[in-house]
Amino acid sequence: MMSVIAVQSVKMVTANMLLSVFFVSGALAACPYNPGLFITAPKNMEALSGSCLRIPCNFRAKPDEEFKSARKTFGVWIKSSKDFAKYPQNVIFNSSWEHNLYPMKITGDLSQKNCTTLFSSLITKHTDTYYFRIENWPFRSTAECDPLQITVRGSAPRPRIEISGDLKEKESVTISCSASTPCPHSPPKLTWNLQQDPHNNIEENTDQTFTTKIQKTITLSDTHDGFTISCSATYPVNEGREVKTAEERKTLSVSYAPKNTSVSISPSGLVSAGSWVNLTCSSRAKPPASFSWFKNSKDGAIRVAKGKFYSVSVTSVTDDYHCVVTNVLGNQTSSWINLRSAENSDSSLIWASALGGIILILIIIICLAVCIRCCKTKHQTPQQPQSQGAEVLDMPGSWDVVRNQF
Ligand SMILES: *[C@@H]1O[C@H](CO)[C@@H](O)[C@H](O)[C@H]1NC(C)=O
Ligand SMILES: *[C@@H]1O[C@H](CO)[C@@H](O)[C@H](O)[C@H]1NC(C)=O
Ligand SMILES: *[C@@H]1O[C@H](CO)[C@@H](O)[C@H](O)[C@H]1NC(C)=O
Ligand SMILES: *[C@@H]1O[C@H](CO)[C@@H](O)[C@H](O)[C@H]1NC(C)=O
Ligand SMILES: *[C@@H]1O[C@H](CO)[C@@H](O)[C@H](O)[C@H]1NC(C)=O
Repeated sequence: MMSVIAVQSVKMVTANMLLSVFFVSGALAACPYNPGLFITAPKNMEALSGSCLRIPCNFRAKPDEEFKSARKTFGVWIKSSKDFAKYPQNVIFNSSWEHNLYPMKITGDLSQKNCTTLFSSLITKHTDTYYFRIENWPFRSTAECDPLQITVRGSAPRPRIEISGDLKEKESVTISCSASTPCPHSPPKLTWNLQQDPHNNIEENTDQTFTTKIQKTITLSDTHDGFTISCSATYPVNEGREVKTAEERKTLSVSYAPKNTSVSISPSGLVSAGSWVNLTCSSRAKPPASFSWFKNSKDGAIRVAKGKFYSVSVTSVTDDYHCVVTNVLGNQTSSWINLRSAENSDSSLIWASALGGIILILIIIICLAVCIRCCKTKHQTPQQPQSQGAEVLDMPGSWDVVRNQF
């Protein structure tokens, strides 16, 4: 009995916790105060030490008519605790003062309810929660429900690399690298290995903060697969006397249809009819491809097998094979590969030697005929030594021709 009650109370606690979580996330319901001032500014801002931070800010009074533009207005920034009566040293900026504790400046026009502030020469110790206050006598109020959390880091934030679209060959994609720009007066310089001297573009975001961006549109091919994009953001700090750099990398994984498809035979060289050879189909493809083997026949190519390897018995006739490699992006066909047995090759060798023999015999016959004619001429006209000598000299030349046939 006791244990059942315990379980129930645990359930109730959980339900209460859930309720309070809902309350916290519900805009102002969590803020127990009822201030007369609200600001519109980012809730969390990150900045780099040695640089500045532009805080985009607008305010509104509640009720609205409490604030009168015509009256003299002071803007005040308070750190850590809104209870500045108790901790007067927390008032780190008052626009009516000439010397302030923190290097801040309200650049917005307070009469236009613009409290945009430039916070310069930041150090990591400036990391804190800040409250904005308006003094528009007799109206005075602190935006207690809109604290601003500022985090000042010692090292540069890493840029972001983004790629629009599908990473497939022939696809045109836009690759961008962007870096947060808390201090638009001295923005970071972005560089990458996709192009020399890219054009740095400073864009305003919807919350009025800024981003520095470079981008490039490329048409993908299989050669981009595995390429690592590296982008660097270099921030000037301490009035540009130094820089802080951060780098981001992203490796492209590009899908492509099969490429470099070829077939290899093992063993290579001649084999006798009836023995087996292994055919291997090779290809590059992403995602991995499937393989099919085709044999050429009178009726065209017919599929004989699937898989990267194909074992085939060599027949006495010659056969042609090829493989087709297919993935989701397409297919590629290897060139035909011709399989013939050693016997097949031997018979063609015989034919070749037979043809050679016949030619040789013909040459010998012609030579003999020439020789006989020549001897006859010698006997009939012995009184012509010049022409005779010329013909005798021709003889070894003819034999050279015959010899060259071997
Ligand atoms: C800001 O300065 C004005 C004028 O000096 C002063 O009246 C006011 O009290 C100051 N505000 C705070 C919060 O210190
Ligand atoms: C507020 O003032 C800043 C100047 O510091 C200006 O850049 C910005 O556009 C103004 N915002 C609005 C909403 O007028
Ligand atoms: C793959 O094929 C391409 C042409 O499509 C060629 O330029 C490249 O040299 C080939 N690579 C290999 C390893 O054969
Ligand atoms: C072919 O491959 C099989 C195994 O896949 C192997 O047992 C055989 O010896 C190979 N034959 C030749 C001729 O390479
Ligand atoms: C190869 O792709 C072409 C279209 O690109 C298609 O017509 C053909 O049927 C495909 N072949 C195989 C074997 O999948």
